[in-house]
Amino acid sequence: MKEKLQEIQNKGVKEISSATDLKVLDEIRVKYLGKAGELTQILRGMKDVPPEERRVVGILANSVREKMEIALSEKLAELENAKLLADMEKEKIDITEPSTGIKRGALHPLTRFNNKFIDLCVEMGFTVIQTPEIETDYYNFEALNVPKNHPARDMQDSLYITDSILMRTHTSPAQVHAMETLKPPFKIVCPGRVYRNDDDSSHSPIFNQFEALVIDENVSLKDFMIMVKEMAVRLYGKDVKMRVRPAFFPFTEPSIEIDATCQMCQGKGCSLCKGTGFSEFFGGGIVNPRILEMSGVDSKKYSGFAFGPGIDRSVMVTNKIPNIKYLFRNDMRFLKQMR
Ligand code: PHE
Repeated sequence: MKEKLQEIQNKGVKEISSATDLKVLDEIRVKYLGKAGELTQILRGMKDVPPEERRVVGILANSVREKMEIALSEKLAELENAKLLADMEKEKIDITEPSTGIKRGALHPLTRFNNKFIDLCVEMGFTVIQTPEIETDYYNFEALNVPKNHPARDMQDSLYITDSILMRTHTSPAQVHAMETLKPPFKIVCPGRVYRNDDDSSHSPIFNQFEALVIDENVSLKDFMIMVKEMAVRLYGKDVKMRVRPAFFPFTEPSIEIDATCQMCQGKGCSLCKGTGFSEFFGGGIVNPRILEMSGVDSKKYSGFAFGPGIDRSVMVTNKIPNIKYLFRNDMRFLKQMR
């Protein structure tokens, strides 16, 4: 009996250690320790062992079972671990493989310029306001000293909804709204869309302007020029050059037109700037005291300056866009190039 047990142990442990997969290992377990297993049979047959040997044989049989159980569980852990490693190897991802790329959206070039200009104005202490795109004749013209017979009021230039209601032709009505509602001193900027009956490669019926208005005591043309210079430097860099030309707007007196280094050729001279090295930055001037009075601002105490850059031209120049219409078509082929 003792020899039989020893033989089972040797054979069993050897088979366990040479098992190469989980299925085989389980078959070995059944073969020795299952209900009809070799060792189970022996343990069941203990009653036939002579009483004087039973104790010793019993101890030996239990130790054999224990050894085999340990060998089985060690092998099980080993095989399971090997299987896990093999599975991991199969599912391995090659992180060095070139990716197919992530598709990303981007801000529209007009939005980018708008954000840049708004940030700049906010840094300089301006409050951003928004006023209606559909205006009355009063806010768009009358309150800005544009006389009844002014050509801008013509149906040919403005998009009327009724006889006295139209799409604003500029953001300047924001000046009137601000003066009527805010208590001086104040600095406002109003970005927004404006509408004119104009249509060719450099004009679109919809375009974008900014309106800036500063009202305070003792505001002069010099203050205006200092601020404009600072804005040009922040937008175009410290080497920017500026030049000033006299202009006319019914709501500013004096009125000026300011040019800055052409951003297409960096001042060298190109077809866009007609060889001058300058392109239009914006128009503005000292607020006509008549305008202040009409909107309820005391023109003896307060003065101010206003200016209104158009942004579409700047965006076209800085992004080398040949036709203003591209800015409004939302053609993906164009937008992708603008990222
Ligand atoms: N509103 C004017 C235009 O559309 C620009 C402007 C704004 C001029 C403010 C003076 C002051 O051309």
